Amino acid sequence: MQELETKRLWLRPFRYEDLDRLAEIFGDSETMQYISSGTKTRSQLEAGFPAKLERFDRWGFGMWAMIEKESQILIGRCGFIYLDGTPEVELGYTLNKAYWNRGFATEASIACLRFGFEQAGLDRIVAIAQPENIASQRVMQKVGMTFEKNAHYYKTDVVYYAISKNEFHALHG
Ligand SMILES: CC(C)(COP(=O)(O)OP(=O)(O)OC[C@H]1O[C@@H](n2cnc3c(N)ncnc32)[C@H](O)[C@@H]1OP(=O)(O)O)[C@@H](O)C(=O)NCCC(=O)NCCS
Repeated sequence: MQELETKRLWLRPFRYEDLDRLAEIFGDSETMQYISSGTKTRSQLEAGFPAKLERFDRWGFGMWAMIEKESQILIGRCGFIYLDGTPEVELGYTLNKAYWNRGFATEASIACLRFGFEQAGLDRIVAIAQPENIASQRVMQKVGMTFEKNAHYYKTDVVYYAISKNEFHALHG
């Protein structure tokens, strides 16, 4: 699986030693308030870990651990899953709230989208968020995704954004 690098971040595969920091992020109710599955405990995260680690081999893409270069700390995750059991590929991101609003999700997302279009062979990538999740929608807009529809995924009403390979390259080269 490929590591990605941005100006301030390393995006690398997850390791078991990441579980404590992940549990800090996914156990926080403010961070998870717009995520339909809600908070997760460390043992829930650990139980789901092997399947997540296999995704890159199985699908050719997955979620990367987001490491701040300066501190070497895991500050979140960013990458792809299949949208609620459909064949569509969804961009997703979750950050430790101590790092919100500094452009990290946008920076990581652009690197992930580039990987998706240039290396994983994708032609279109979507993203969804609960309508109240303004920060997430701002990230979608800043990376160049456009609103397509109101939709219903993960048993939740969501806004649905998308970007094509051509649109991505027209914006980001
Ligand atoms: C969504 C999330 C990953 C964004 O990460 P981030 O690194 O803070 O994102 P960025 O800094 O790149 O961009 C955030 C943008 O939202 C804006 N924003 C944040 N909260 C806002 C609010 N309440 N109202 C309006 N704008 C808001 C920021 O100002 C920024 O926009 P700007 O650059 O135009 O000023 C982060 O908020 C998070 O982890 N949230 C909890 C998990 C989550 O909801 N994930 C998405 C599920 S769909």
